[in-house]
Amino acid sequence: MAFELPDLPYSVDALEPYMSAETLKYHHGKHHRHYVDALNKLIADSPLEDRSLEEIVRASAGAVDEKSLKIFNNAAQVWNHNFFWESMAPMGGGEPSVGLTNLFAKTFGHLGAFKKAFHQAGMDQFGSGYAWLVLTDNALAVRCTANGYPPFVDGQVPLLCCDVWEHAYYLDYLNRRQDFLTAFLDHLVDWAAVEERVLAFVI
Ligand code: FE2
Repeated sequence: MAFELPDLPYSVDALEPYMSAETLKYHHGKHHRHYVDALNKLIADSPLEDRSLEEIVRASAGAVDEKSLKIFNNAAQVWNHNFFWESMAPMGGGEPSVGLTNLFAKTFGHLGAFKKAFHQAGMDQFGSGYAWLVLTDNALAVRCTANGYPPFVDGQVPLLCCDVWEHAYYLDYLNRRQDFLTAFLDHLVDWAAVEERVLAFVI
C-alpha cells in the first residue's frame, strides 16, 4: 500500500511567528510530499512495497547501489518529517515538566545545558541534517546526523529532532540557523511529546 503524506498535527499558521505559514506550506506540502511521492515510485512492485516505513529505512541503510540509496534517502526523510512535525506544538517551548527537567539535570547538569548542547549539535551539522535528542543505552544524549540519517538505524530511540536543512528556516531566518534553533528550543518544542516518548522507554 502506498504511503501517504500525513496531515500536519496543527494548522499551517499555528507555529507563527516562529515558523511561518509559508515555510510550513512549502516544507510540508512540497518537500515532505516530494519524499512520499518519490518513495512510492521507488518501491512500487518491489518486495519493499508492503513493508513499514521503519523496515524500509533499516533494509536500505548502508546501501551502495544507486536505487537502494535513493530508497533510503526518501524513506528516511518521510520518517524524519513525520517525526519533526510531532516534535513541535503551537505555544510550544517554555518549561518542561518537573520530571523531564530532573531527567535533563541528571544527564546534562541542567535544562539550559541540554538546550546549549542541542543548539550546538544543530550548528555543528555541516550542511543539511538534523539535531536530535535520543535515548541510547538507557541515557539521554544529543547528536546531529547528516542529510536524512535517522538515529534509530543505530539502535538509538529518537525523542526530539530539529530539521536544520535550509528549507526548514530560510524563508523565516535567511542564513541565521542559530536564530532558528533558539526559536525552536524556546517556542516550538513539544515537551509533552518528548516526555511521552521518554516514559515509553524509561521506567
Ligand atoms: Fe525538511
